[in-house]
Formats: sequence, structure tokens, C-alpha cells
Amino acid sequence: MYIQRYFLALCLCLAGFSTTVNAQGPYPIQKTVMAQHGAVVSAHPLASQVGLSILKNGGNAVDAAIAVQLTLAVVFPGAGNIGGGGFMVAHLSKGQNLALDYRECAPGKASRDMYIDSTGKARTDWSQEGHLACGVPGTIAGMFAAHRYGKLPFKDLIQPAIDLAENGFVISANEAESLNENKKSFQQNNTGPIAFVRADRPWKEGDTLVQKELAATLKRIRDNGAKGFYESRTAQYIVEEMQKGGGLISLEDLKQYKAVERPILTFPYKSYTILTMPMPSSGGLLLAQMLKMVENKPAMDSGYASGAATQLMIEAERRAFADRATYMGDPDFVKVPVDALMSAPYLASRMQDFQAGKAGNSKDVKAGVVPHESMETTHFDVIDADGNCVSVTTTLNGWYGCSTVAGKAGFLLNNEMDDFSIKPGVPNMFGAVGGTANAIAPHKRMLSSMTPTIVLKDGKPYLIVGTPGGTTIPTSVFQTIVNITDFHLSPEDAVNKPKFHHQWLPDDVALEKGFSGSTEAALKAMGYTIKHWGGIGRTEVIAIAPDGTLEAVADGRGNDSAAGY
Ligand code: DON
Repeated sequence: MYIQRYFLALCLCLAGFSTTVNAQGPYPIQKTVMAQHGAVVSAHPLASQVGLSILKNGGNAVDAAIAVQLTLAVVFPGAGNIGGGGFMVAHLSKGQNLALDYRECAPGKASRDMYIDSTGKARTDWSQEGHLACGVPGTIAGMFAAHRYGKLPFKDLIQPAIDLAENGFVISANEAESLNENKKSFQQNNTGPIAFVRADRPWKEGDTLVQKELAATLKRIRDNGAKGFYESRTAQYIVEEMQKGGGLISLEDLKQYKAVERPILTFPYKSYTILTMPMPSSGGLLLAQMLKMVENKPAMDSGYASGAATQLMIEAERRAFADRATYMGDPDFVKVPVDALMSAPYLASRMQDFQAGKAGNSKDVKAGVVPHESMETTHFDVIDADGNCVSVTTTLNGWYGCSTVAGKAGFLLNNEMDDFSIKPGVPNMFGAVGGTANAIAPHKRMLSSMTPTIVLKDGKPYLIVGTPGGTTIPTSVFQTIVNITDFHLSPEDAVNKPKFHHQWLPDDVALEKGFSGSTEAALKAMGYTIKHWGGIGRTEVIAIAPDGTLEAVADGRGNDSAAGY
């Protein structure tokens, strides 16, 4: 065993500067790191270490973010990905802002009613599992679009992921358990053997997960650029697997896929400036609506988890999510009245029927009427020594996506099609409902809730923040921000203290384990229906002090880990 591990470490060292990570496990998890020059926080300690080594070797924050995204595709296969998509929000040291959309899109053969069976029933099993659930992957196009802002050659950024896939990395007890739990689903949704299923025995802690086919896929990208994914043997493997399993993605869909740079969504909150993701993520607009609905309201002075502030925030969340269901969708396909939905008079009118001490209800609180205008995942943050900041949320949607590996290409595909509204009023896997704005159409991007965000104070980076969690993403980002800006919690507490969630429908308030019992009693007395949830979000934050000190905080809810120097 030791010889094997020694050999593995040696191979990794010989492969070059970028593979300075120790892939033998157990990996030290660092929850809070104070740093002076640069920091990375992500869902996996190996990915954070890879990001750090890129920063130390002269890469900027965008380079490190690319390397982290690609490493997560290897070491965090439940959500890290090259078979999914995501969003990158960046604030570059020269003042430029970037909102990069590499969200999946519907295949060309997709149609509005493709998940409705002959009896008229909406089939969430089709939209959530297996080949038909899969949208055209956007991640690799996104990484090359981002690379325009990087400094190091792409091959140096992808090499750590190649080495980890080729030589393997040692898995933890949790990772082994998660792979074992999903064995049945992997077997049902694949047409051939895959690296995530062991033929001989269940996975156990200390096993090495080797992904040779994924390594070969990553090498094709290294050697041929984005075409090495979208117009290569990889593309053929994806399409062959689709054809075997009844999926829709074609070679033409892959060839046509484009990542899109969009104008960033920015707005002031108190004395801060928020930079966040525009459509096709609902997350940024929901964040704007929620923050604006609570801004400078006296109830916020009563502090974190107080009955008054919590109720106000719940009602803001309810109203924002009602608007999401009606107005929001891919801006290339529907006109989303963004300015109207975040205008001060509109949001004031939305809160006019708010009654302190009395629960609202989602039967009465519908989407607002806007003036007609001439709407399983992982998150990571990076900052470098020049102050370039990057906030990325990326996803396969469900844990391990649709559970289908792209044949011999060795990577998991997404089940992002479920983020469309497959039938008006039918909830997706996160309970979100929608209508025509988010209906399926060929090449359309499905509405997201992912909210990678950067907060500026006096024009300078102050917080980099984001989280996975489906519809709880915008509410978790909202709460993490006000925990700091309004409730004056430390970044560690802002991340780790229990959160709550309301998304209009279903009309109940989810309280995370450990949330204040007295506030729960107060909310019940006001008329709220309370549900208890184990965990809400896995929020990562980098806070930047006025003197430049970086505080990178990894969420305590998972094995998330920070790194810095
Ligand atoms: O884009 C979205 O909003 C969802 N596909 C995100 C999924 C997610 O966060 C799952 N993780 N817990």
C-alpha cells in the first residue's frame, strides 16, 4: 500500500509544477484560511490546492478558476463537471466586470412537451434521469471563453485534472459511500461499464478512483482546444451514448454550442455595490429583489435570526420567487422585464401588503404586475495577488447529473433539462414551478438559480460569495450577505449559522437544523407552516479586509476546504 502511494506521489511530482497536490488522502480540510496574496475556496481540498498552486505559479484568478473547475470534474464527480454548465462572475483588477454564461441548452430536437406522456402526465423521471434529461454541455466552451482573461497556457491549467484522472486520487469514506449509494442508478442509466462502479466489491475509504477514459478526454481538450471536446471523438462518444439510451444531443448541437458573455447585473445595496449573474440565472435578479425589499427596513436592526428580521426576509423571498415563476427565462428567447422587476417603486409596491407579525400566503401573493417594458451544483471563489476576483457556480443539476456517463469519454452528463418548466405548474426537482417564460424550446437555456456574486465596498472587492442548493441558492446568498452587511456576523458565522428558505410554492418556511427555537415558535404564532431541513447550502466566502487581508471561509456543512498564501 505504501509503495503504491509512494509511486503515485512520484508520478504526480514528475508530471510538472502543476501537480504539486498530494492525491493520497486523507486531505487536510481547512475551514478558514487567512492569507495575504491569494486564496481559493471550493468543495474539495484537492481542487483548492490545485487552484492555489496555479496562483503561486504566476496564474491569475481566472487561470486558477479554470484549473479548479477542471479538477472538480475529476475529484468531485457528483457536481464538478465537464458534462454540465455554469456561470462565472469576475471583477478584474483593472475594473472590468465579467458575467460568463456557460449554461447548458436544450438539444435541437427538444420540444415543449417532450416530458409529457400520452396520458398528459408530466414525467419528471424522464427530465431527471438518464439520457433524455441531458442538455448540451457548456463547461468546456466556458473555460475557453474565460481563458481570454487568463495568463497561463491552457495546457498548464488542465494538466492537474489530467494527472488526477489518469493516476487516480484516494477517496474518503463519504465519497465511497456516495458512489456505493448511487450504484443502482449508475447501472440503470449507462449502456456500458463506467469508472464509478466497481465490478468486484463496494468502494471503501482509501480506495483510489482512477478515470482513464476521462483522462483521455481531457487530453483531447488539452491538445485540440474546445474542438477537442465539441468536434472530436468525445463528441462522437456523447452522441453514440445518446443514441443508445434515447437522448437527443446531436453532433450539430455540440458544434453549435457557444458560451456567452453577458452584461453583468449590478445594483447598489446600502453603501455596497453588488455584481451578480444576469439571466438565464434567476439568481442575480432574485438577489436584487430580496435585498431591495429589506434594504434599510427597521426590522433588519433586530439582527440575525430575530423574529422580525426573519419574517421580513421570508416575505421578500416569497415575493421574489413568485416573480421567478412568471417572468424569468432565457433572455435570448423571452423578454424578461429585469429593470421593472428590480425598480424601487415596483419592489415597494410588492411589499405594500406585508404585515409584520402575520404570515403572508402564496395564494394571495402572486407574481407582481410589472409595467409593460419598452426575467447539485458546486461553488468556488478565487482571488489573486492583483485583486482579480472570480466567483463560479457550476452544476450537473442533480448529484451525478443524469447518472449517465458519456460512453467512453468517461464523464458524467447533466440532467439540466429538469430546470425547464416541463409543464406549467409542475414542480422541478427543487419544487420550483414556472410557465411559458421557461418552457422548453430548441437551443434555449433553462432557467437557473445559481448566483455567483461579488460585493464591492467603496469600489473595492469586499466579498466573493456563492453556493450550490437549487432554489435555496439565491436565498442563501441573500442571507449570507445581510448576515455580514446588516447583522454584522463574522464571515465564518455568516456562512455556518443556520439559514432558512421560502420559495413562494410550496408555501412553507424551511428552517435549517439548529435555527433559533424561539424564532421558530414566533414564526408559528404568526401563521407560518414550518418544515425542518438538515442543511441549506454549502456557501463559500472570501472576505477582503480594508488592509487587503483575505479570509477564505469554507462551509462547515461538507468537506469544503480553503487554501491561501
Ligand atoms: O441551475 C440551477 O439552479 C440548478 N440546476 C442548481 C442545482 C443545484 O444547486 C444542486 N445542488 N445542490
